[in-house]
Amino acid sequence: MHVLELAKRRKTVRKFLSDAPPKDAILKALEVAKEAPSGMNAQPWHFLIVSNPSTKAKIREVCEGLEREFYRNVKGELADWLKERDFSWKKPFLSEAPYLILVFGIAKYPYWLQSTWIAVGYLLLALEELNLATVTYTPPKPRKVEEAIKAPKGYKLQTIMPVGYSADPKPKYERKKLEEIVSFV
Ligand SMILES: Cc1cc2nc3c(=O)[nH]c(=O)nc-3n(C[C@H](O)[C@H](O)[C@H](O)COP(=O)(O)O)c2cc1C
Repeated sequence: MHVLELAKRRKTVRKFLSDAPPKDAILKALEVAKEAPSGMNAQPWHFLIVSNPSTKAKIREVCEGLEREFYRNVKGELADWLKERDFSWKKPFLSEAPYLILVFGIAKYPYWLQSTWIAVGYLLLALEELNLATVTYTPPKPRKVEEAIKAPKGYKLQTIMPVGYSADPKPKYERKKLEEIVSFV
């Protein structure tokens, strides 16, 4: 499928069927992510695939603890946006999705942060092509998750991407028009 069609079709999904996609499909998507460009070609990323229910439950417990604190303190525009969409501290997708892909950036490399997020972009489109759904979940204090799963020093958790088949009827959110976001000089 053309990349434009994939980008237009892709949307965030927060509810998953319990059937697990084949592990090969996850690996295929990561084959795409690893082709992303990176500063100095350092490829400063690591992808941890979690399918073990007890590890997923532990990650969910840590994240929901952090989310409770976050939701107690959130204010302003972000608070309104979350409320309108009925979001809460509960993150069932962290244990319900068959897989969690934890994406780490390896902080000793130049441009590690930008490079890792480009790989996340590649991964999002690759998953879409494979008809797999995900959400780019960003826990409030990723350091706490790194500690809980004993991540190696310097491996900075960027996102936890639950992956599976969609059970979420949510529509695609609208995008701004090209004229609003592009200018020429
Ligand atoms: C950097 C980043 C952080 C995000 N963090 C979260 C998150 O913590 N929880 C969540 O439910 N969605 C998260 N999202 C998903 C966005 O809410 C979603 O992409 C956006 O609302 C547009 O919707 P769409 O992806 O369906 O087009 C995040 C997305 C990005 C790119």
